Amino acid sequence: MSKLNIFKMNAMKKEGIPVAWVTAYDYPMAYCAEKAGVDMILVGDSGGMVQYGYSNTNPIVMDEMIMMAKAVRRGAPNTFIIGDMPQGSYEISDEDAVRNALRFIKEAGCDAIKLEGGCRVSSRIEAIVNSGILVMGHLGLTPQSTQSFGGYKVQCKDLESFVETIDDASCLEKAGVFSILLEAIPTEPGWAITKKCKVPVYGVGAGSKVDGQLLIMHDLLGLYPTFRPYFSKCYIPDASKLYFQHINNHATNIIIYGRETKNDGLLFLITHAIEQYVKEVREGIFPTEEFCYPIKKEELDLLKESDLWPK
Ligand code: KIV
Repeated sequence: MSKLNIFKMNAMKKEGIPVAWVTAYDYPMAYCAEKAGVDMILVGDSGGMVQYGYSNTNPIVMDEMIMMAKAVRRGAPNTFIIGDMPQGSYEISDEDAVRNALRFIKEAGCDAIKLEGGCRVSSRIEAIVNSGILVMGHLGLTPQSTQSFGGYKVQCKDLESFVETIDDASCLEKAGVFSILLEAIPTEPGWAITKKCKVPVYGVGAGSKVDGQLLIMHDLLGLYPTFRPYFSKCYIPDASKLYFQHINNHATNIIIYGRETKNDGLLFLITHAIEQYVKEVREGIFPTEEFCYPIKKEELDLLKESDLWPK
């Protein structure tokens, strides 16, 4: 498959073909993701938690992000890779934001960057876009500012949060983002925001009616002990059935088989888990309702009465 670009992303949105993507933070995971045929990879600041073991995403710094992004590029040379701007890398000034965004492109070979926030970060986005770098916006639950939400809370369940998110999405489009990522939003408001935006809108826990799905690699693989978001599906139970069948087929000569193919261990299992995820996203199977945040009828009715709800 050829590498994704923004023209293909726009065409996929128009044709209703969902984008399937994952996070990755190191060489082997990126290798498996590319082999499994993901459309994009995010080197997320979630790596601060799942890879480096910090208790939230805020401590991670640019040098640690660049280290992960370089390894991911080596593992996935032909995949569209997005570097995630960590807290502290874009708040100070437009100039600082451009300097750090450029590091993802020049030092790590990323194709684009992502940063959190709405209207308040418009000038940073404009400055980065004007320096020739593709920027993805990130709205909904933005983990770097959970303190201002009062914790990890599902967004867009009330009118105020819905109106603010629509407003922010419009600011981001005006500032020049090529796409927007929505996090932790029920399916219906996720659909409404997607419908109102010209650029592709992807979701991580934003329901089944957005233009594509992102999962954190360690959740997909059941590799993070501390916490598993409600919307995350672990694909290891499904993939392991295929794995054991595959190993049994080679059981008589597993050592030689392993030496020759390296298809006897985690590379095989992880690649198949990601393949299964990609297949389910492309076929519209994932996320099923049990992986989407619910919204009460009376809450939804209030959103639907708003002038901003798409007709
Ligand atoms: O860092 C990350 O992986 C992210 C996702 C949670 C969206 O920003």
